[in-house]
Amino acid sequence: MGQDKDQKKKNKKRNRSSENEKSIEKVVVTKEEKVVTQQKQKQQQGNCNNPSKKKKSQEFFPFGNYRNYYGYRISHDTDEDPRLKVLKKEWFQGKDCLDIGCNSGIMTIHIAKKFGCRSILGVDIDSSRIEDAHWHLRKFVRMQSSAKPTEKKSSSEGADGSKEQSISHSNAETKSETKDLSQIVSFQKENFVQTRNLDENSYDTILCLSVTKWVHLNWGDDGLITLFSKIWRLLNPGGIFVMEPQPWKSYENNRRVSETTAMNYRSIVLRPEHFQEILLDKIGFRTVEDLTSSLSGASKGFDRQILAFQK
Ligand SMILES: C[S@@+](CC[C@H](N)C(=O)[O-])C[C@H]1O[C@@H](n2cnc3c(N)ncnc32)[C@H](O)[C@@H]1O
Repeated sequence: MGQDKDQKKKNKKRNRSSENEKSIEKVVVTKEEKVVTQQKQKQQQGNCNNPSKKKKSQEFFPFGNYRNYYGYRISHDTDEDPRLKVLKKEWFQGKDCLDIGCNSGIMTIHIAKKFGCRSILGVDIDSSRIEDAHWHLRKFVRMQSSAKPTEKKSSSEGADGSKEQSISHSNAETKSETKDLSQIVSFQKENFVQTRNLDENSYDTILCLSVTKWVHLNWGDDGLITLFSKIWRLLNPGGIFVMEPQPWKSYENNRRVSETTAMNYRSIVLRPEHFQEILLDKIGFRTVEDLTSSLSGASKGFDRQILAFQK
């Protein structure tokens, strides 16, 4: 009995002290909560004044500037982007190339690596995607310097969570290996439609893969014609323009990403099925080659037409 009384006293003491701890904790938490609440209120006020901030936190991609684009574009059971298989080496080997709308740069880097470009510049409207591209390039350069020629393909997660592929060193690829990729590949933030000094550079090959819809929705028919005209003027005579246009039905899914896209969607007259005719008859390209039939292994929704025009 006496022992029971002692135990009860001890328990009471313990409970009291744990209540004290709780109340101390509560004071601390309450102070922290206050600070967090104040910060949240400030953030909310800021978001009300600046709607773009709110949209950013909701992962808003008005230009198709998706983070982790290649994570879902390239299926996990594929060793490389299926588009690489339909591109011709002679368009890139020893050539100066431009990749418009390069996103996180994975396709740009793979083209340089596989075909041995003399130079390739990737441009994108989104500075975060250009940062990702620089990160990927540094990673590829590191892998390039540590890889042995017999090494096989391996996959790892990229900075943006995308599947990053270290491609095997086959014969077709070894040529570009002799030169450091960072001397060949570069990236730059640029809105291609609105900024570019046309006298600056000329290119042998220009890529515009899955970008036309975003230019079209954001800058309308005029923006699309500006894009095509600039590409034509930047190309050397005989140069190649590789385009992967999104079909009209996919515009519908993205038309409401902003007020601008919703407005432009309603006024668009030119349709993707007209692009080929526009590029040949109005812009001035001499020939077109449809590469779509050789494309296989594209992920669902990405089995798009790929066309190569010659200036
Ligand atoms: C859907 S992604 C395609 C990425 C890459 N070309 C590919 O197919 O693997 C479209 C990219 O185009 C970029 N973009 C859209 N409008 C652009 C513009 N006016 N100038 C430069 N980049 C643009 C976006 O930021 C986005 O990264």
